[in-house]
Amino acid sequence: MAPLWLLVLGVAAGAAAQDPTPVVIWHGMGDSCCLPTSMGMIKRTVEDNVPGVYVRSLMIGPNIIDDTLNGFFRPVDSQIEEVCQKLAADEKLQGGYNAMGFSQGGQFLRAVAQRCPSPPMKNLITFGGQHQGVFGLPHCLGTTGVCEIVREMLDLGAYNSYVQSHLVQAQYWHDPTKRDEYLEVSQFLADINNEREVKNETYKENLKKLENLVLVMFGSDTMVVPRESSHFGFYAAGQDKTVVPLEQTKLYTDDYLGLKELDEDGRLAMLVADGDHLQFSITWLVENVINVYLK
Ligand SMILES: *[C@@H]1O[C@H](CO)[C@@H](O)[C@H](O)[C@H]1NC(C)=O
Repeated sequence: MAPLWLLVLGVAAGAAAQDPTPVVIWHGMGDSCCLPTSMGMIKRTVEDNVPGVYVRSLMIGPNIIDDTLNGFFRPVDSQIEEVCQKLAADEKLQGGYNAMGFSQGGQFLRAVAQRCPSPPMKNLITFGGQHQGVFGLPHCLGTTGVCEIVREMLDLGAYNSYVQSHLVQAQYWHDPTKRDEYLEVSQFLADINNEREVKNETYKENLKKLENLVLVMFGSDTMVVPRESSHFGFYAAGQDKTVVPLEQTKLYTDDYLGLKELDEDGRLAMLVADGDHLQFSITWLVENVINVYLK
C-alpha cells in the first residue's frame, strides 16, 4: 500500500490537472457587469469557492453605461447575438462553461443555450428569471430618468410596434388576455419559448444538451409578476388571477422546449429561495448553487 503522503499528493495533482469549468454571468435590469456590490460580489464569491475558476461577467456593449442602458433599450436578439460572438471568441470557454443569469439575464442566457450551442453551456442556473415573461412591472430598477421613459413606453402598450422594437421589457411582456397579439408581435419571448405554430426543433435539441437547468424562484418576489414565471409557471389563458405550474402548461405537456425530458431525466431543478427578488444570502448561494453545480 502506498504511504499516505503519496496518496494525498496524488489526489492534489489529479485535482490540479483539471481546471474547473468556467462560469459566465449575465446581470439583470438596471445593473451592469461590474458593480462591486452586485455582480462583482457574485464573481468574487464564485472565485473564492471554486479555486482557479475563470469567471466572466458579461458586459453588453463597449462600456458600463451602455451595458446598463442596453438592459432597457437594446433589442434582446441583438444582445444575444453579441454574447454568442463573445463566448465563441473567448479561448478560455471553448471546453464549455456554466452559466448564471440574474433576473432577465436568466431568460437571456437560456436563449444563448438554445441558439448558440458552441461553446457548450453545461449547467444553467437562473435566479428570479422571467421564463414565461411578465405581466406587469411593479418596480423599475434603474435611474429615475430611465424609469420614466420605461413607464411612458409601457403606457403606450408593450405590443405597440415602436415600443416592442425599442424596449427590452416589452419583448418579454406576456399578456395572458391577449394571446393572439402576443404570439404575433412578441419579438423575443414567443420565439424563444417556441410558442408559435411552427416550432424550432433546434431550440429543443440545444436546451436538452444542458447537464442541468436550475431555476431559482424567490418565494416573496414582488418584482416578477407572476413570480412563478421564474419556474416557467404562468397565468392560465384568458385571465390574470390563477397561475398554473409548468407541468400543466402546453410548453411542458407538448414538450416543444425539452423541459419535460430534462425533468424526467432528473436534470431540471426548481429551487425556492426565501425573500424578495434576488435577496439571497451568500451562504445560500454557496450551499445551494456553487457547491452543487459549479464544482
Ligand atoms: C431555429 O433556431 C436556429 C438557432 O437560432 C436558427 O438558426 C434557425 O434559423 C431557426 N429555424 C427556424 C425555422 O426558425
